[in-house]
Amino acid sequence: MAPHSSDDLSTHWARHELGEVVISAKDLQAKIVELGQQITKDYQDNPPLLVCVLKGAVNFLADLMREIELPVTVDFMAVSSYGAATKTSGVVQILKDLDTDIAGREILIVEDIVDSGLTLDYLLRYLGERGPKSIEVCALLHKVGLQRVEVPLKYVGFAIPEAFVVGYGLDVAERYRNLDAIYTFVGEA
Ligand code: IMP
Repeated sequence: MAPHSSDDLSTHWARHELGEVVISAKDLQAKIVELGQQITKDYQDNPPLLVCVLKGAVNFLADLMREIELPVTVDFMAVSSYGAATKTSGVVQILKDLDTDIAGREILIVEDIVDSGLTLDYLLRYLGERGPKSIEVCALLHKVGLQRVEVPLKYVGFAIPEAFVVGYGLDVAERYRNLDAIYTFVGEA
C-alpha cells in the first residue's frame, strides 16, 4: 500500500482549496481492509460482480477489490447527477452502461458517496429490472441527514457530515480525484 500523504507537503498544490482532512489515507485503507474481509465472508459461495460507479468510485474499487479474497469480476457504469456544481440536480443520466449480462448474478454496487440517495435509488431500480440474483451496495461514504430517498446500504465505510468533500476519487469539476485522503472543499465550485 502506498504510504499516505495527506500532509501539507504532498498536497501543497491543492492546499488553497482544501479544508480539513475528513478521513486520512491511513483510516481509509484500514476501513477498506475491514470491508474486504466482510465481503469475502459474506460472498464465499457466490463471488459477486463488482459494479463500479465511475468516476468517483474508481480509487475505492481499486483498493477494495484487492482486499476481497474471492474470484470477483468487475464492470463499470458511468452516471452523472451533478455536472460541475456541488448541488445534486436530481436527474440521473447513464453515460456508460454495463458490458456484462447480470441476470442471475450476485451484484455488489461499489459507490463513492451517498448524498441525496437519488443516484443509487435510480441505479438499483435500473439494474434490478435485469433480473440479478441479488443486488447490494457498498458505499465508502454516507452523508448523514441528507437522504431524500432511503436506499439500502449493505456496507458503509464512514458516515460523514454535510460538507462537500473531495479526494480519493471524489472531485469538484474533475479536480482532486488523485488525493489519497478525503478533505472538505473550501474553494469556488
Ligand atoms: P446523490 O445522488 O445525491 O446521492 O449523489 C451521489 C453522487 O454525487 C456521488 O456518486 C458523487 O459523484 C456526487 N457527490 C455527492 N456528494 C459529493 C461530495 O461531497 N463530493 C463530491 N462528489 C459528491
